Amino acid sequence: MKVLVTGGAGYIGSVTSEVLLNRGYEVAVFDNLSQGHRAAVPADAEWVQGDLASPQKIREAIDQHRPDAVMHFAARSLVGESMDAPFAYLRDNVMNGLNLLDACVSGGVERFILSSTANLFGAPASAVIDEQAPIAPGSPYGESKWALERALHWLSQTKGLRFASLRYFNAAGASEARGEHHTPETHLIPLVLQVAAGHREHITIFGDDYDTPDGTCIRDYIHVLDLADAHVLALQALEQGNRVYNLGNGEGFSVRQVIETARAVTGAAITERVGQRRAGDPARLVASSYRIRDELGWAPQFPALEQIIDSAWRWQQRHPEGYIDRALHK
Ligand code: UFG
Repeated sequence: MKVLVTGGAGYIGSVTSEVLLNRGYEVAVFDNLSQGHRAAVPADAEWVQGDLASPQKIREAIDQHRPDAVMHFAARSLVGESMDAPFAYLRDNVMNGLNLLDACVSGGVERFILSSTANLFGAPASAVIDEQAPIAPGSPYGESKWALERALHWLSQTKGLRFASLRYFNAAGASEARGEHHTPETHLIPLVLQVAAGHREHITIFGDDYDTPDGTCIRDYIHVLDLADAHVLALQALEQGNRVYNLGNGEGFSVRQVIETARAVTGAAITERVGQRRAGDPARLVASSYRIRDELGWAPQFPALEQIIDSAWRWQQRHPEGYIDRALHK
């Protein structure tokens, strides 16, 4: 089976491409390299440099590669940025996704997997969020993913497209060969590790006056390899119907707990400062992943925060400049 992976040069898309190839799938990566890295694309994947803003380019890619399924990772994905630049999300994320869906429907692609987000749930009332939790996107980013989830619903009804929507909580960690490299970096774990490595002076905690035990935000960190595994399982399960799953470890850690764990893993002091809250940040986001565990037998292989941070630390130590100036690798 062949999978077209949009955003396959990005963090989660490149790790998922690696896992798909390891499990015997053929992979074609479609990416405009606006955020991703050519060196992150596995050498065994076919490569298309293209932009989803161009309906023609994506149609050509589908005609040429004839994928059996599309996994759609390519998107802007920052809650805070979406509060400052809403049209990059409400227009570009949605339009690019619709261009892709249009090309899939007209090109005969029957299976589609969407990278969705915990931000669909805004600032939820419940301690642990399952798929029945009310949808109330917390930002233009979350809204853009909800628009695509609704489009999938209707394309399934009208065109028979089979889909899975996977709502990630906080992806983190690295495989042996691939890790997280954003420019600029905004995510907590890589930033904390940059401080540990001496590349950054301190980590700023975005608010310590939240209604949580230590006052800092709580998130559910999930290893990127476990996320990738969920994509493969969801793809296999599409034959039995559409899938919507929340994906996290089911345990929350505060910003301070992440910093403390990074100190234990790295042995570095890691200076912290307390700053202002960041717009759009809910106090607590923790997933119930009971449904995917129950229906597909998914179980995270790397559930411990120590394991997640340790894998990111090892990747960062091996690649202090990230993907810059690196040759392609397997
Ligand atoms: N944080 C800090 N200081 C920093 C960076 C982050 O205190 O320098 C805090 C944030 O306020 C937040 C937590 O660390 O409470 C995690 O922040 P990240 O930026 O690492 O991740 P987010 O929770 O903002 O967002 C991530 C993905 C989104 C996805 C969301 C779902 O980036 O795409 O998880 O929960 F929607």
